[in-house]
Formats: sequence, C-alpha cells, structure tokens
Amino acid sequence: MMRGQISWGFLALLLTTSLLILPIRANDDEGVIDDDEYADVQRAHLVVRKFVKEELVVQGKNVTVEIDIYNSGVSTADAVKFQDTLPAEASLVEGSLGLDVGKVTVGSHVKHSYVIVFNTGSVQVTLPTALVTYVSDADTNERTEGSSTAMPLYVMTPIQQLQRYALQAGAYASLGFARSPSDWRNLAIIIGVVGSLLGGNWVVKKVKASNVNRKRAAALRELEKSD
Ligand SMILES: *[C@@H]1O[C@H](CO)[C@@H](O)[C@H](O)[C@H]1NC(C)=O
Repeated sequence: MMRGQISWGFLALLLTTSLLILPIRANDDEGVIDDDEYADVQRAHLVVRKFVKEELVVQGKNVTVEIDIYNSGVSTADAVKFQDTLPAEASLVEGSLGLDVGKVTVGSHVKHSYVIVFNTGSVQVTLPTALVTYVSDADTNERTEGSSTAMPLYVMTPIQQLQRYALQAGAYASLGFARSPSDWRNLAIIIGVVGSLLGGNWVVKKVKASNVNRKRAAALRELEKSD
C-alpha cells in the first residue's frame, strides 16, 4: 500500500517535471532550427501556379490558361523569366508562352495568362509544367529554377458537351431520381415522347421524320445495351 502510494507520487513528480522541462527544450530546439532555416531561406522563393478555371474544356473553344507567380521567400526575385510549353493537342491563339517578368517583390503576385484552343476532343490532357528561372540571391547572383503545378484536363468534343448539358438537364428534370441506366432509358423515352409532341414540327423542318425515328430507335438500342 505504502509503496504503491510512493510510486504514484513519484510518477506524478516525474510527469510535472517533464512537463516543465519539455516546453523549455522545445523552445531551445525551435531557436536552433530557426537559425539554420533563416540562413537557408535568406533569398527569394517563387511558387508558380498554373491553372484553367474549368477542368472540363471543349474542343475548338478558347481556353484561358492562368499563371500566378508568388514570391514566398524573404527577398526580391530578380530577372524572373517565365517559359511555358503547350500540350501537343493545343495551339496558342492569344498571349505568349514566354515572358520576362523582371522583379517580383516579397509577398507579391505576378499574374499572366494566354489563350489556347484544343484541336482534338474526347481526350485527357495534362497541361505541362511551366518553368520559371530567377536570381534568388542578389549577393551571389545565384539563379534558381522552379516549375509550376501540372493540371489535368478533359477535353470534350462539342457533342460530348451537348450530352453533358442533356445529362445535367435530365438530372434537374428528374430531381435526381434517375440514377441507373434503366432509369435513364425510361427518362429518355419520356423525353423522346415529350420532345416529339412539343418539338416535332421543328425537327421535321430540319431532318426527315423517318431519319429521326431511326436515330431515336438506335439511341434506345444503345441505352438498352448499357443496361
Ligand atoms: C477566342 O480568342 C480569340 C483570340 O483572342 C478572339 O479573337 C476570339 O474572339 C475568342 N473567341 C471567343 C468565342 O471568345
């Protein structure tokens, strides 16, 4: 009994002393690490973000690629040069892939953008990383190289975009009930019937009715197959 009480008391003492000692030691360590890091980051550090607002883009449509260069270091980045590369599937329609940015001061952003158009659709594309080079330390004139994030995109064909709109419209129309392929088939039949009642005349003007029916039958067969 007595021994037990003593060891609990001892343990409590140990705990309080270690609690008292730990914060002091932690502070010591932090101080040491800070000194090392301070020496190491006494320079500019550029962070480059490259992005497109939408992850889904459409073949043949303008896509704006945005660049954000941010200096998270502790001194000005000098002679900053930006150089980007296009994915093989795209061409440049506005702006430039290369840029002499000049200086980027601590904590400031430099924004750049250019416009591209994808010439193929139905493909997954990754926008390549852009390169940034800069003088990170004015004393040594040391040049540093950094690269941007790479962004994956999906390029839809114009038809895929229409299908996507149709699916979204369908999800709204069905209030989210149509989830399985058979739900979709039933919905497609309803949409087809309503569509032929409402929009029949308009369609006939453009395409022969028989043609439309054949297409509708083919579409239904496709939907049935995916069941
Ligand atoms: C696409 O970009 C080009 C070049 O800037 C511009 O001339 C054209 O009007 C743009 N098209 C659309 C639909 O915004």
